[in-house]
Amino acid sequence: MNDVSRETPSAPDVARRVFRSERLPLAERYAELLATEGVLRGLIGPREAPRLWDRHLLNCAVLAEAIPHGVEVADVGSGAGLPGLVLAIQRPDLRITLIEPLLRRTTFLSEVVDDLGLDNVEVVRGRAETLHGLRSFDVVTSRAVAPLGRLLEWSMPLVDPHGALIAMKGSSIDAEVEEAAPVLLRLGCGAPTVQTLGEGLLASTTAAVRVAWAEPSRVSWPSVPAAGRRPRGGQDARSKRRNRT
Ligand SMILES: C[S@@+](CC[C@H](N)C(=O)[O-])C[C@H]1O[C@@H](n2cnc3c(N)ncnc32)[C@H](O)[C@@H]1O
Repeated sequence: MNDVSRETPSAPDVARRVFRSERLPLAERYAELLATEGVLRGLIGPREAPRLWDRHLLNCAVLAEAIPHGVEVADVGSGAGLPGLVLAIQRPDLRITLIEPLLRRTTFLSEVVDDLGLDNVEVVRGRAETLHGLRSFDVVTSRAVAPLGRLLEWSMPLVDPHGALIAMKGSSIDAEVEEAAPVLLRLGCGAPTVQTLGEGLLASTTAAVRVAWAEPSRVSWPSVPAAGRRPRGGQDARSKRRNRT
């Protein structure tokens, strides 16, 4: 990626509490790329540039509070990398797959991954639905992608039997949970829980809804042929076909 020379808002003090000292320069470089290439390529609005840290990087970084150590995460509809790239920067223990259908965006995502030297990120170009039956993850995140009902349809088939969807949501969160009740029931999801993230850290906190399977033992995953498997930390492949019984 080209060197960028436009001015980027510098990291606020709180960023030093959110990102470990050795990862902060990566977050700063990502902020710089978003404020320059990201704006130039129309991936984020020019009005977002001055408030990148507060509204985007820090807001996404606190999602890490809800994600266990060392798990495999898919970020559906990553756009310019929010929250997936922020999580990958902040949490090198996570393996992150960014799922995004638009070429312009996946090109940017791959360039940022290379520029930052991140070795825990895979970029997949496609809609989440195209991975149904092929991949599953411990955690499936998203931000600003779709109303909860539609998000559940796209994301839950990617959630491991013992995993969870964790979607960042705005002030509509309670109404969305209520409206999604029929979809939650039809898919066999457990009761959603709403979490407030960033308390005591950020001036404005972030809300996320967590949805797991109601009965993990009833979400069965027939094994796929060895050739179709993807290695994962020396364990069995995570590429499974979901078939609720
Ligand atoms: C409003 S943007 C949000 C991007 C980013 N998550 C953020 O918070 O800035 C929504 C993104 O979801 C992607 N998207 C829409 N439908 C999708 C689907 N079915 N599967 C995966 N991504 C999808 C779009 O291409 C777009 O990049």
